[in-house]
Amino acid sequence: MADIQNGNSCSSSPLELFERVTAQGEKVRSLKAGKASTDEIDAAVKLLLSLKVTYKTATGQDYKAGSPPVDFSPVSNNGPTTTQDEDFVDPWTVQTSNAKGVDYDKLIVRFGSSKIDKELINRIERVTGKTPHHFLRRGIFFSHRDMNQILDAYENKKHFYLYTGRGPSSEAMHLGHLIPFIFTKWLQEIFNVPLVIQLTDDEKYLWKDLTIDKAYEYAIENAKDIIACGFDINKTFIFSDLDYLGMSSGYYKNVVKVQKHVTFNQVKGIFGFTDSDCIGKINFPAIQAAPSFSSSFPQIFKDKKDIQCLIPCAIDQDPYFRMTRDVAPRIGYLKPALLHSVFFPALQGAQTKMSASDPNSSIFLTDTPKQIKTKINKHAFSGGKDTIEEHRKYGGNCEVDVSYMYLTFFLEDDDKLEQMKQAYTSGALLTGELKKVLIETLQPLIAAHQQRRKQITDEMVKQFMTPRKLAFDF
Ligand code: TRP
Repeated sequence: MADIQNGNSCSSSPLELFERVTAQGEKVRSLKAGKASTDEIDAAVKLLLSLKVTYKTATGQDYKAGSPPVDFSPVSNNGPTTTQDEDFVDPWTVQTSNAKGVDYDKLIVRFGSSKIDKELINRIERVTGKTPHHFLRRGIFFSHRDMNQILDAYENKKHFYLYTGRGPSSEAMHLGHLIPFIFTKWLQEIFNVPLVIQLTDDEKYLWKDLTIDKAYEYAIENAKDIIACGFDINKTFIFSDLDYLGMSSGYYKNVVKVQKHVTFNQVKGIFGFTDSDCIGKINFPAIQAAPSFSSSFPQIFKDKKDIQCLIPCAIDQDPYFRMTRDVAPRIGYLKPALLHSVFFPALQGAQTKMSASDPNSSIFLTDTPKQIKTKINKHAFSGGKDTIEEHRKYGGNCEVDVSYMYLTFFLEDDDKLEQMKQAYTSGALLTGELKKVLIETLQPLIAAHQQRRKQITDEMVKQFMTPRKLAFDF
């Protein structure tokens, strides 16, 4: 396969290229399922990306799984030939060749969502009377669908609810996994609304090499970390799919409705499924879609079918909800609104997101102060210069510096953050000093999380996970 390593297979027909991209996509998936080494997976993903670029250059179209090229037009010299660093984002893979990370403005265009601009942030502030969360102010939640509708509802004293989730693929959660939950907790507080949290243990059983019992066990363990974020037990329902699907006819009915209105061809196109994927995977998107409809939770919303849903999630989950929004009106429901976050970068750099399967790419919620310090000092990619002299002279580059990026997520003080940025850019602050600030920010934050988690009893988990009426009347 070395001949197509650089994607320069100009002589292939569009259909041949299409088949190569499809085959490579399958290879990436099977490497991941078979727990191949990170290097092997990275190499396969790189080849996949370059094949996609070649495909686009040859056909003028983006590769779309399941949709072979029909009406292709070869691109002329002044066509889109400079797509070398096209990013790759789907629910399973995030990859870019750019050290600054994924180009999120391009992603907004590609996904057809809307930018969270100053105007929307101001409106959130006006409507709620609360200072917008720093995740909003700093563009960490950067994209949305229909957030203005949610604000209209709130202004008109109409109810809505929040829905988010987590795929429990391992016992260990890392810092990046906290982002949607920290933000969701803030949303729950400022809007005072019900929240449902889905734990997709079924998804992880289908995709990973895990037994059903293990996946369920991870769901319960992860629930403790989620609860430790501070959710209000009277306003929050957490559920494991393996448990709740069999308990709620409201939920299962909605799953079946979605199933009837989405074809195999559509999920192939959206998720890249192939004929050799098991039918559990093909059906799974319906299970992630259904909690977007209030009638999946009759114990909370009684018979109300028209309570709108707002979903805070990382942008890689958007394919599920594009599908959901597409079917919603056809089955008589409202489309869920969405707030999308950027990815939390790996310690090694923003080319990919933190991964729970690579211990050195992540800071775990179970790490000791010493581990946090060592990982940051040893692995956090630096935008500083090679020598102190050069650094003093030219300054560091915050745009690629992982320690600085992490501070934008976790250092709440705007003035201090700006001060760090200026000092680092000018060369007054050295990488080691910047890392020290990060270490001193994260150590107490993680220790406090561990403290809160310790206090969570099995009884509390059970309570959060019992289908019940919440502190709202519908
Ligand atoms: N599929 C998600 C994951 O693997 C978990 C999830 C389920 C989710 N429902 C969600 C995430 C709703 C965000 C919003 O992590």
